[in-house]
Amino acid sequence: MNPKYEQAEQILNKYNQQHALKFYDNLESTKKEELLNQILSIDFEQLKNLYDNINKIEHKQSEITPIEYTDKSKMTQDEKKYYLEKGSNVIKQNKYAVVTMAGGQGTRLGHSGPKGTFMLGLNPDKSLFEIFCDKLKKIKKQYGVIIPWYIMTSKENNKETVNFFEKNNYFNYSKEAIKFFIQEEIPMIDKQGKVILTEHGLIKQAANGHGGIFESMFKNGIVDDMKKKNIEWIFIGPVDNPLVQMTDELMLGLAIDKKAMAVGKSIVKSNPEEKVGVFCKKNNNPSVVEYTEITKEMAEMKDKNGELLYGESHINCNLFSIRAIEKIGAEQLPYHTAFKKAVYMNEDGKVIKPEEPNCYKFETFIFDGFEKLDNMQILRGIREEEFAPVKNKEGVDSPETARKLYKSYYNC
Ligand code: UTP
Repeated sequence: MNPKYEQAEQILNKYNQQHALKFYDNLESTKKEELLNQILSIDFEQLKNLYDNINKIEHKQSEITPIEYTDKSKMTQDEKKYYLEKGSNVIKQNKYAVVTMAGGQGTRLGHSGPKGTFMLGLNPDKSLFEIFCDKLKKIKKQYGVIIPWYIMTSKENNKETVNFFEKNNYFNYSKEAIKFFIQEEIPMIDKQGKVILTEHGLIKQAANGHGGIFESMFKNGIVDDMKKKNIEWIFIGPVDNPLVQMTDELMLGLAIDKKAMAVGKSIVKSNPEEKVGVFCKKNNNPSVVEYTEITKEMAEMKDKNGELLYGESHINCNLFSIRAIEKIGAEQLPYHTAFKKAVYMNEDGKVIKPEEPNCYKFETFIFDGFEKLDNMQILRGIREEEFAPVKNKEGVDSPETARKLYKSYYNC
């Protein structure tokens, strides 16, 4: 008997997941190996704990208070100049890198490929990845510096992402400056806490949320690579916003001046009901409160100037010092649970496409790392200059709205 198989069987017996090997004999040899490797690498103890705690509402009482911010639009010309100079020095000294989070599934958009390969519908047309690359090329021209660009993919979309860059000759940016790394996965489980199988008989896993970035930057040697390059500041942003500022010298300057470990970019919440998370302090530490966690009363509270007290939307555009990444990455971020639809193979070997959600998916969020930071500044940016999300196929935050915002900002 194959010792690996025996070991896998023991693990599954311990955690009552024996069905995962039910179709083993029918698999071709590479898939057999893959399944055994999956079983040996999955943390079933963690999965069991997550399942056991799904319906236990955590009463971690945190005191939520507003967080201070710096408003870009209210800076004087002298202040701007001061911060810009500090920030641009960092870039000129090759101490700055960008990480793009491109490991999401993009289920709402429904594009058949990695989200970054989505063509925005410009004239001439460009993918989101090319739009970002153009911004880096512009900086190269301006400062004569090639900014290292790290792209986080998932197991599911890594190959397609790399092929896309290959096919497009890395959009004539430096190939050596672009590095891909794959984020971690965690199995999805059904209502009974059982792992589910893919149509190929493997255990179905999904990317572990954008909070997985810290762990995977360590596991993939990205932090070491950055240190070798003497990188001190890292901007982490999403793949689905063509107005992301890949470099914001002002933000960098602010971080240095305030001796901050990180700076979070915010934009003003458009109305108290908008479904976005907002920056705040939880138990006096920087954090984000989700729209589901905040009461109507709090969401509507205003300060003496008539502005929302909790109005600084988190848009997933954050600047971190390498120290901040090390500090956040040292511990596992908490998992959040979502109940989702997932295609699976049932115990009779039939592929089921559910009409209703059937599975738990576990995700970590990047902003859960903020509370570990001693000093995090918030910089309020301008919505029209920074935010054109591509989330849904149609309607709000869709390619159509993003295209309009992009064209209007770039006047193209
Ligand atoms: P979203 O939370 O909007 O998720 O990601 P998504 O996967 O793109 O879209 P839906 O919810 O399935 O429709 C915000 C950013 O975080 C990245 C996404 O690629 C996007 O840039 N992300 C999300 C990851 O890199 N990994 C993840 O596991 C989740």
